[in-house]
Amino acid sequence: MGPAFHPQSPQTQIIATLFAHFLILAAVIFAIVAALVVYSLLRYRARPGAGEPRQVFGSRRFEIAWTVIPLLIVTVLFVVTVRAMSLIDPPQWANRPPDLIVTGHQWWWEARYPDGTVTAGEIHIPVSRRLLVRIESADVIHDFWVPQLARKMDAVPGLSSYIWLEADSPGIFAGKCSEFCGAQHAWMQFIVVAEPEAAFSAWLTRQSEPAQPPSVELAARGSRLFVERKCADCHGISGTASRSLAGPDLTHVASREFLGAGISRNSPENLALWVTNPQLAKPGNRMPDARLSSDESRALAAYLGSLR
Ligand code: CUA
Repeated sequence: MGPAFHPQSPQTQIIATLFAHFLILAAVIFAIVAALVVYSLLRYRARPGAGEPRQVFGSRRFEIAWTVIPLLIVTVLFVVTVRAMSLIDPPQWANRPPDLIVTGHQWWWEARYPDGTVTAGEIHIPVSRRLLVRIESADVIHDFWVPQLARKMDAVPGLSSYIWLEADSPGIFAGKCSEFCGAQHAWMQFIVVAEPEAAFSAWLTRQSEPAQPPSVELAARGSRLFVERKCADCHGISGTASRSLAGPDLTHVASREFLGAGISRNSPENLALWVTNPQLAKPGNRMPDARLSSDESRALAAYLGSLR
């Protein structure tokens, strides 16, 4: 069973219960219809020597029954669905500043906290606190989905959508883009890390701090290359002159679990592979090849690897 069947928030619990009710009702209807079909096949099958069966046309009772019963079923499904939707979604009056702004990009997710902290690919949330999340897109239509924690929500360019994001217990929850958005749609993953309030604020404090200046010569060389080779034109690193948010913010890139929206583990080797040949690491992504020598790649990877 997939993660969607193991809800870990009040909202996904409601969705899972709704799905279970639909499934049971559909199973009962299927069983009744299948039984009637099998019965009719056996009871009214052609027998040798039997003549033309008696022809029956029109029955007001049956006509009414097979109109009214499905109508009732659909009405019930409609009512329970609307009720579930009203329980799951932030009401219109929740028109307050969001606790988190999530933006879909081709092909990665950016998360922005009210204090200005920006991360990519990794969203931390406090356990058992309901966050109002605003979903946006920077380019095409994406779809934000953490199956265990929240409903799906499209990220539509020019439109802000809102969902609740909440986790009942600490854990790491997989998230995916759920709307085809280009070549690397499948690698537009992220994780949601739910942790106790204290751990969450400690994380947020660390993430909000500017990057440490490089302490070893190799990393210092990497930090100069970061500017010279135009990395800084797309990637922001707080505490430096690099402010662009076209690509993922790298202020604390070394603290993250994954690179390239889930395509590889964040290790020094994978970081070096990424800066050496980004199109080999994740074909089609927007990062151009800076044509670094292997020395330069090592220096740049050492710098990025120091950004904890
Ligand atoms: Cu973004 Cu699929």
